[in-house]
Amino acid sequence: MIPKLEWLEAKLRKMQNREEYIPKYTPETVAKQLGIHEEEIIRLDKNENLFLSKSFFSGILKELAEELDPRFYPQKEKSTLIHELMEYLDLPSESIILGNGSDELIETIVRFFLGSNEEAISITPTFTMYQIIVTNQGNTFIDASLNDDFSLDVDGLLSKTSSKTRLCFICSPNNPTGNQFNFESIKQLLDKFRGIVIIDEAYVEYAPYSVRERITEYDNLIVLRTFSKAFGLAGLRIGYGLAHPKIASALKKLQLPFNINTFSLQLAIKLLDKREIVRTSITRLKTERERFYKKLTKIPGVKAFPSNANFLLVTTEKDTNMMCDKLMNHGILVRNLENILHLGRCLRVTVGLPEMNNKFLNIMTELCCS
Ligand SMILES: Cc1ncc(COP(=O)(O)O)c(C=O)c1O
Repeated sequence: MIPKLEWLEAKLRKMQNREEYIPKYTPETVAKQLGIHEEEIIRLDKNENLFLSKSFFSGILKELAEELDPRFYPQKEKSTLIHELMEYLDLPSESIILGNGSDELIETIVRFFLGSNEEAISITPTFTMYQIIVTNQGNTFIDASLNDDFSLDVDGLLSKTSSKTRLCFICSPNNPTGNQFNFESIKQLLDKFRGIVIIDEAYVEYAPYSVRERITEYDNLIVLRTFSKAFGLAGLRIGYGLAHPKIASALKKLQLPFNINTFSLQLAIKLLDKREIVRTSITRLKTERERFYKKLTKIPGVKAFPSNANFLLVTTEKDTNMMCDKLMNHGILVRNLENILHLGRCLRVTVGLPEMNNKFLNIMTELCCS
């Protein structure tokens, strides 16, 4: 029985309109509905990595199962991973901060930089977690529209900021449009915005360039990266941030001591050691991305946009709810975005293995030509 306390009731009431993150469907529920095995579901909805095989990970996981002792708290693994990242990125270890996924780092950044009445800004459309985290903390979130060609409207964005705007989140390559912003526009933001610019590079391994080395030039820049995409560890939750050592150090003081488990840390360390395999898988994805893009643009009524990430933004003339339902009936999951900017009827589709994409292409062709 919850005690009848006024303050407690007020706090619970405040949460009544918020929503817990519960997926509408899972591969498991869809598989059950279709009477097929979960492994047969083609997951093109969450930009996960389908190019590193499960058997590749099984081998590393078996090695780790022998080596690890789960009875103990993580000890040196965090500093070992930071050391490995230092070599991989060619940046000082003091500039690197680890998080339980980059989501956790977004939350730490918001907690640290936004006091009461302070604001954050981002672009629209983009990754929705920036808005969710900022508003969950009770702060104001402002969005500034991209140009119709998906480029950054720096002046438009700056005109929406005020003396209370502390943070500016830019996802580049941007989820869901897929394009990477040119450095000239990012540089303008870094020079003109009187706050911290966070460049979320979750998909940067699939893109032409990174801004990571600019942290030595711009003290107001934080770069976010993740092991969830190109490194295939979405389920193990490891992200990292790159920033001026003073900012990285301040953020580290807000973190819980054992925020990442030993297993995830060790797996990331092993994966950095096998980075050639990861690199090869990125090259394969990029080749497939071009093929997939070209095939999609040939379907009547379908438009696909060039991508610097591991997914494609696609528009169709057909209703996207109907499309998603029909695809799901064939065991294929994609993300329904409906309308974004001037575009109606958008889907976001992860670049899967060729056989997965072919199945998707066949069904799309059938649906669009009917
Ligand atoms: C742009 C962007 N940033 C961050 C994340 C989350 O990354 P992580 O798994 O490291 O929390 C995602 C996940 O889809 C993303 O699209």
